[in-house]
Amino acid sequence: MKCTLCPDVTFLLSPSSMSEKMNRLTTNVIETFRKTWSSAPDVISVAPGRVNLIGEHTDYTGGFVLPVAIDREIVFAAKKVPGNTITGFSIDFNEEASCQIGEYDPKHPCGWFRYVMGVLSELERINKTIEGFKFTVGGNVPIGSGLSSSAALEMAVNTAMECLLGFQLNDKEAALLCQRAENNFVGMNCGIMDQYISRMGKKDHAILIDCTDLSTKAIKINTPGYSWLVIDSMKRRGLVDSEYNKRRLECEEGVKCAQSVLPEREISGLRNITVDDLHTLGTSCDEHVFRRVKHVVTENDRVLKTVKALETGDIDAVGKNLYASHESLRNDFEVSCKELDMLVEILSEVDGVSGARLTGAGFGGCVIASLRNDSIDFAERAIAEKYHPQSLPAGESAKVWLINISDAARCL
Ligand code: GLA
Repeated sequence: MKCTLCPDVTFLLSPSSMSEKMNRLTTNVIETFRKTWSSAPDVISVAPGRVNLIGEHTDYTGGFVLPVAIDREIVFAAKKVPGNTITGFSIDFNEEASCQIGEYDPKHPCGWFRYVMGVLSELERINKTIEGFKFTVGGNVPIGSGLSSSAALEMAVNTAMECLLGFQLNDKEAALLCQRAENNFVGMNCGIMDQYISRMGKKDHAILIDCTDLSTKAIKINTPGYSWLVIDSMKRRGLVDSEYNKRRLECEEGVKCAQSVLPEREISGLRNITVDDLHTLGTSCDEHVFRRVKHVVTENDRVLKTVKALETGDIDAVGKNLYASHESLRNDFEVSCKELDMLVEILSEVDGVSGARLTGAGFGGCVIASLRNDSIDFAERAIAEKYHPQSLPAGESAKVWLINISDAARCL
């Protein structure tokens, strides 16, 4: 088979080049594939999870986001087989699932398999012909911690299909297709950020995405001596789907209010509202809706300020924007929780931490912090000593790791 995205797979599976390219996770997925299906995969795709540096709850109303792809990934190994059956094994769930081509059940008992079928059904909608295949999937993006394991899975499936079936979507098409899989099939009304960064990520760069026209700019992070930490609160996100969809509706209310208050302006999303407009809206919109609008409008502004600060190496300004983002998400958008607030507070007391905020949809999941390299140990120790929320079993604390900014989804 000729594969357009990836070099010749047979070549890459030769033992010498394999050892250079494969990490432990990939090796495990390939070995499990061989054991489960008694043969070698035709293609192996890898898709990263993400951390959003800033720009939260702005993507679905045309705003700016600034995510990075991380070295936590989903690996998907697949092999064509004769017939109409798709059968797969998930290492993380230790489950096998199967379906017939064209018969995709959104209520399938294996939740992880719904994401696979969602992508396949969207591919069929754009007239790609799916063929029977077997696959093995595994990952190290923590599930339910807000680092986009689902978008990474969707993108891993799509990328593997591009290689296996011999077609190539452009980046926007691929991201939008995976987003539709999640919106239409899984039922989560997410924005475009997670799927797009999994497709567009670039080593050592953050990607500024303009969610109105989906243009992107790779931002080189110019802050020598500083690193980014992820702190997983270990509070698994609850209520996120329903609260998320509620926030989207409230933002739509905000757009309607802005349209009626500023009839001379063209307003299709909150992106079209400026910080200067807030005063006018504050006196006319429902107080609750206004606070949602205020978060989004000020967050868009913070994203652009953070980009400038990262490019010029102004770490204090980066930090100030991170803290301000957290405060806005907590007070105005109301998507934080006590665990995330506790972590941000603990970090803010550590010398050398320039800023911290919740990342992702909220209601649990992770916090990120930008901090001086020589403060990393102190930050870890402060968290281990002080972070023991009631929601965690006695003695347990958060998990901390350094962000390694990685490349986009690819076939190996
Ligand atoms: C989830 C969604 C994204 C985005 C974030 C919040 O991760 O999938 O589209 O809306 O929440 O910024």
